[in-house]
Amino acid sequence: MQTTRPLALITGASSGIGATFARQLAVRGYDLVLVARRRDRLEQEARAIQDGHPVQVEILSADLTRDADLRAVEERIAAAPNLEFLVNNAGFGIAGRFFSLPLDGQDQMHRLHVLAPMRLMHAALQGMVARKRGSIINVSSVSGFGQNPGSVSYSATKTWMSSFTEGIYMELQSIGSPVRVQALCPGFTLSEFHDTMSFDRTPIPAWMWMSADEVVDASLRALDRGQLFVIPGWRYRLLVFVMRALPRPLYHWLSIKYARGTGRDKG
Ligand SMILES: NC(=O)c1ccc[n+]([C@@H]2O[C@H](COP(=O)([O-])OP(=O)(O)OC[C@H]3O[C@@H](n4cnc5c(N)ncnc54)[C@H](OP(=O)(O)O)[C@@H]3O)[C@@H](O)[C@H]2O)c1
Repeated sequence: MQTTRPLALITGASSGIGATFARQLAVRGYDLVLVARRRDRLEQEARAIQDGHPVQVEILSADLTRDADLRAVEERIAAAPNLEFLVNNAGFGIAGRFFSLPLDGQDQMHRLHVLAPMRLMHAALQGMVARKRGSIINVSSVSGFGQNPGSVSYSATKTWMSSFTEGIYMELQSIGSPVRVQALCPGFTLSEFHDTMSFDRTPIPAWMWMSADEVVDASLRALDRGQLFVIPGWRYRLLVFVMRALPRPLYHWLSIKYARGTGRDKG
């Protein structure tokens, strides 16, 4: 049933940052389309949201690395005249050297972090630009500001995410469009991300972890100001500043030393 409320579509809404975006956008009065592979988890999220908020929640179970599923989500977007929000959030990490890991995981990561958001943005922006309203948040990462032995595809795809978002921001500005885009670049965030990649959280100091609520709060507040790059937490803003200021050879040396020290380049 079509309502007069604006619609938000969120990928990777079955857990972590995506599920948190869904809850916070429901509070802001959006109807929702929740996209991810695990239907049971999406149904659970949908029930929890609808128990507390007078919004409609639709579930679209899709594996965004598959062409047919991705096409179905593009079609859902194109068919929604009230689509005002898109969050490209679905993602995962893998640990290990690029040339030692099976190619499949790397291929899926590029499909999920690059092809899927590119295609979904194309589907969404056509209507948003014409209607002169809408917002897109692309969930990138602090990792996208550099490179890390042991997660090269992850960093590279997140660099793409930030760069592509910046380019779209400039195109929208060049035509005076009020449509907003944001590259959200979190650091370590508590979610299922590190469980999925069997990453041991214990060596990471407690102060480096942020909650998904803190990340999403920072993102939505910055969107209201029209900010392009959002790095939640002052410690991460400082880290990125230092990463970018270091001479490249020194950055390489430190990054390789860190990867060897933690063993994360081996996987
Ligand atoms: N956690 C961190 O420290 C951190 C830091 C920086 C950036 N990020 C980024 O934040 C985003 C969200 O991650 P998270 O931390 O919230 O982790 P998460 O709890 O593991 O959530 C990942 C979401 O992506 C979905 N997903 C994974 N593969 C998919 C596929 N092939 N098709 C459709 N959906 C898929 C998962 O749902 P299903 O399994 O049900 O499909 C899940 O809803 C990711 O892009 C990640 O790179 C995370």
